[in-house]
Amino acid sequence: MCGIVAYVGPKEAYPILVKGLKRLEYRGYDSAGIALYNEGINIYKKKGKVANLEEFIGDQSVVGQIGIGHTRWATHGKPDDTNAHPHYSGNGDLAIIHNGIIENYAPLKEALINEGHTFHTETDTEVLIHLIEELQKRDNLSIEEATRIALTKVIGAFAIVVMDKKDPGKLVAARKASPLVIGIGDNEFYIASDATPIVEHTNQVVYLKNEEIAVLTDKGEFSLKTIANIDQTPFVQELDLKIEELEKGGYDYFMLKEIHEQPKTIADGMRGRLSAEEGWIRLGGIHEYENKIINANRLIFVACGTSWHSGMIAEYLIEELARINVEVEYASEFRYRNPILSENDVVIAISQSGETADTLAALEMAKEKGALTYGVVNVVGSSIARITDAGSYIHAGPEIGVASTKAFTGQVTLLTMMALSLAHKKGMIPKSEFSRILAEFENIPAKIEQLLQSCDSQCQKIAEQIADANNALYLGRGINFPVALEGALKLKEISYIHAEGYPAAEMKHGPIALIDENMPVIVTATNMGSYEKIVSNVQEVKARKGKVIAIVFEGEQEIKKMADYTIEIPKTEDMFTPLLTVIPLQLLSYYIALIRGCNVDQPRNLAKSVTVE
Ligand code: M6R
Repeated sequence: MCGIVAYVGPKEAYPILVKGLKRLEYRGYDSAGIALYNEGINIYKKKGKVANLEEFIGDQSVVGQIGIGHTRWATHGKPDDTNAHPHYSGNGDLAIIHNGIIENYAPLKEALINEGHTFHTETDTEVLIHLIEELQKRDNLSIEEATRIALTKVIGAFAIVVMDKKDPGKLVAARKASPLVIGIGDNEFYIASDATPIVEHTNQVVYLKNEEIAVLTDKGEFSLKTIANIDQTPFVQELDLKIEELEKGGYDYFMLKEIHEQPKTIADGMRGRLSAEEGWIRLGGIHEYENKIINANRLIFVACGTSWHSGMIAEYLIEELARINVEVEYASEFRYRNPILSENDVVIAISQSGETADTLAALEMAKEKGALTYGVVNVVGSSIARITDAGSYIHAGPEIGVASTKAFTGQVTLLTMMALSLAHKKGMIPKSEFSRILAEFENIPAKIEQLLQSCDSQCQKIAEQIADANNALYLGRGINFPVALEGALKLKEISYIHAEGYPAAEMKHGPIALIDENMPVIVTATNMGSYEKIVSNVQEVKARKGKVIAIVFEGEQEIKKMADYTIEIPKTEDMFTPLLTVIPLQLLSYYIALIRGCNVDQPRNLAKSVTVE
C-alpha cells in the first residue's frame, strides 16, 4: 500500500530513489513521484509505473542530495499525475510523501480553506502538508515541531516523510500504523516502507515504532521522539536480508520464482523445528505458552485473503489432531463485531507482511480484551511480529509477487507443525505414529520438487485450453476446501477471471446452475476419507458438460476416466495434501494470466501489503 523511499546524505539522491521505488513498486503502482532539493524543491511525478516516471524525467537534470520518492496505491483521489505524491504545501516550501489514510481530512480541509488555503488535488495527503505549513507559519515552528503537532491532530494511519526548503539537509519521518524503517549509512540515512530499498546500502536499520517521529540530517544527526513529545533512543538492528532474494533470479516473474522456491522455503520453515528421527517438534515462540494454548477456551485465527485460507486449514488440522476449539475470522469483520473474548482465548494472527491494517487492529482489540496474542508472520520485525505476545516466523524470505504463493505454503507448514505439536503434547498421537508422520512431513519439500517438475508443462497446456473462460469453479472437501478457495483467489487476482471456491458438496446447492460446457471446474480429489463422494461430485459436473480438471494422487484411475484433464500429485498423508494440491493451482493461475497478457506480479488495483482499511 504505497511505497515510501527517501535519502539524505552526500550522494546524488535520484538514482537511489528510483531504484528504491522499483523495489517498492509491489506495494502500489498507480503513480510514482520524486521530490529533490536543489535550491528549492522540485517535484517530478507521473501516473503509472516507475518506468513512466523515468521516461517523463528523460534528460531533465535531476540534481539533489536530499529527496523523497513515492509509489502510490490510490485511496483518496483517482490515480493521475495530479494526485500522485509528493505534494507541495500551499506556499511550495514543503513537500510530503505519505502512506496511509488521514480519516479526518474533510474537517481539517474545511478549516484550512477557511484560513485561506487552496487545494489542487483530491488527496488527504495534501491536507496534511497544508496543516503542517499552517502550524509552522502561525507559531513560527521548526519543520519537525510543526509536523509533530500536526500529527497529534490527525486521525488515521500514516507513514510520512517531509522536507522543507527553508531547512534543507533535513528529513522528518513519522509513522502510525503504517511501517517505516530507517537505514543508517556513513553520514547518510535511507528511509523506506520496508527494508528492500535499503539493503544494498546498509544493513544497520532502525524500525520506527508506532507514533514515533525522527529527524535525520545531512550531518549524520538522528533524533527520535514520540509524537507525544517524549525523547526516545533509536534501537539499531542488523538486517537479515540478501539482495538475491529481491531479484528475479532468471525467472520472468517473481511469482514463478516464488512458486519454484517452495521446496526450499518449506524446508527452511521446518529447519531446526522438527526431527522425525527423535520424534519431536519445537516451535520456539510457542513453547512458553503451550500449556495456555492447550487449555485455551478457543484458538481464534484472524487474517485476510490467502492468510485466512491458511487459518482455515489450521482449523481442520488443530480440531482433528489436537481436539482444541478453533475459530477462523476475517480480521476486518472480527475487529468491528464486538466478539466475546476472554483471557482464556488465544488470538492467532496470520500475515505474510505483518502489516495488514485489519489484522493489526484485530490483534489490538484482542489484547485490550485480555486474550493472549500470537503471530504467524513472514516479514521479520513487522508490526504484527512486534505487537503480539509470542509468535513464530515462517521464514519464507521476501515475497514480492502480489499473489501470495510461498507465504501460503510457509504458513500451512508452520500451522501443521503447530497442530502436530499440540496433539503430541496432549498425548493424542502415539510416539511411533508421530515419528512416522514427521518422517513423511520431512519428505514434503522433495515431493513438491518432484511435482513442480512433473506438472509444469501439463499446467501450461491446460491453461491454454481454459484461458478464455469467463468463470471458473474450484471444488474441494475437508482440508482441501480452503485450497479450493485459495485456487480461486489466485486465478481471479492475477487473470481477472471470475472464480469461486466451494466445498464440493455445496455445489448442488446453487453453483451447479452455472455449469455448462464453458465452465472449467477444478476439483481436488485427494481426500481419502471422502473420495467416493468426490467421485460423485465429478459425475455431477460431467453430467452437465462441465470441463473437469482433477487433481488426484498418482495412480488414481476412477476420476481419471471421467475428467478432461488430471494432474497427479505424489501420495502423502491427508494432512499434508494442501502443500501439494495448491502447487498446480498456483501454476495454472500463473500460466492463464500470462496467456491473457496480464501483469502477473502487479495485478490491477491490488497491492502487496494492505496497510489501510
Ligand atoms: O500480508 P498478509 O498476509 O496479511 O496479506 C493478506 C492479504 O492481503 C493477502 O493474502 C492477499 O489476499 C494476497 N494478494 C493473496 O494472494
